[in-house]
Amino acid sequence: MHVAVIGTGRLGTTHAACMAQIGHSVIGVDIDPGRVAKLSSGDVPFFEPELEDLVRKNLSAGRLRFTDSYEEAADFADVHFLTVGTPQHEQDFRADLSFVEAAIDELGPHLNRPTLITGKSTVPVGTAQRLAERVRRIAPAGKNVEIAWNPEFLREGFGVRDTLHPDRVVVGIEGRPGSQAGKILRELYAPIVDEGVPFLVTNLPTAELAKVAANAFLATKISFINAVAEVCEASSADVTALAEVIGYDKRIGHYFLNAGLGFGGGCLPKDIRAFAARASELGVGHALTFLGDVDSINMRQRSRIVDIAREVCGSLAGVRVAILGAAFKPDCDDVRDSPALDVANRIQRQGADVTVYDPKAIDHAQKVLPTLNYSSSLLDACNGADVVLVLTDWGEFRQMQPDQLAAVTTWRRIVDGRNCLVPQLWRDAGWTYRSFGRT
Ligand code: UGA
Repeated sequence: MHVAVIGTGRLGTTHAACMAQIGHSVIGVDIDPGRVAKLSSGDVPFFEPELEDLVRKNLSAGRLRFTDSYEEAADFADVHFLTVGTPQHEQDFRADLSFVEAAIDELGPHLNRPTLITGKSTVPVGTAQRLAERVRRIAPAGKNVEIAWNPEFLREGFGVRDTLHPDRVVVGIEGRPGSQAGKILRELYAPIVDEGVPFLVTNLPTAELAKVAANAFLATKISFINAVAEVCEASSADVTALAEVIGYDKRIGHYFLNAGLGFGGGCLPKDIRAFAARASELGVGHALTFLGDVDSINMRQRSRIVDIAREVCGSLAGVRVAILGAAFKPDCDDVRDSPALDVANRIQRQGADVTVYDPKAIDHAQKVLPTLNYSSSLLDACNGADVVLVLTDWGEFRQMQPDQLAAVTTWRRIVDGRNCLVPQLWRDAGWTYRSFGRT
């Protein structure tokens, strides 16, 4: 099929490359000519395992190209995927839909023949129907433009794998007489769903809600275990052992029960806020008030770890603090709403001398917080440190050896913000070890 993917961020680039990989002819569209030029030469401007290889392979196979022209995309494609960002609004908790609306307004006037627009961006429920009416008003093809919503559940760091081998594919359709959307998308995804992946067709609002409900559930699971961690601390229980115990119950499961600094990134935090804001607009805000607690438990972890660091050192003023981790989670270079960077910033504001190390995210972190010191190696960052804080659970940090680190630090003090180290190993080597919810 001829496919356009509008918006070449992490989601769009991954989707475009994967659609090409399963055999479609794909054009990626972006309003940023610099990004288009980079991608056209096989240069992916962010870190995502396997993605650059996939882009290069499909560029050279002639199945993938990039453009900044909506007209070219409209001429070429029968199916248009919308993958532009929906960040948090500047003034409040709602989702900012300006990029989605702008994409529709740019594309619409070029649609001269029957076309399917398939949204993948995370949007408040009700958006798809509104966009359908908007595009039909401006497109020459009018009522022959259909809208579907096909939410994306990929995780950063696993983008290619999650797109090619998803747990499920969800397609929300308008259900108008003669609607082709379900059939077209089933055919488009055939190489993926024929492997036995559930292909679920719903109405538009259900598909839109499925995405935010899934993220809200994940966020709730993390905040649940973090709330329990606080009780564990007060009662000398161990939250990691507790999570293991309850996780064996298949109804609960082990995933997303790692207590620690909590969730960040470009999705979970803004999605739970936008979900609650939308529920209020719909007059059912009371149904989601608990998401306010999920959010505040999560944010409290950030101030709690600053308190723990201060407790360990007596005061933070003038103290040398090594921060290990800047990305919001391991195996990616994304620092959007990163708990690690937020904590680094808070600690610096308390007068500490902060040095940050991250295996992949330093460049992005430097742009966001240029006033922190950055090191290009773990041992360098820890050189002369009075306390070491592990704030992102990279494999490199899990493998650290207490004696190796002790050779460069001033004091043997470590705060494990991700519960990713073995406490006994560090204590046996003479370190003061602190974490969340572990004795
Ligand atoms: C999340 C969802 O997992 C994806 O399914 C979804 O498609 C994506 O958002 C999105 O909306 O686009 P992602 O933001 O890549 O994916 O990150 P996650 O792997 O979900 O991790 C989110 C945060 O939770 C990270 O900061 C991570 O460190 C934290 N986390 C995760 C915990 O604190 N504890 C855990 O047990 C698990």
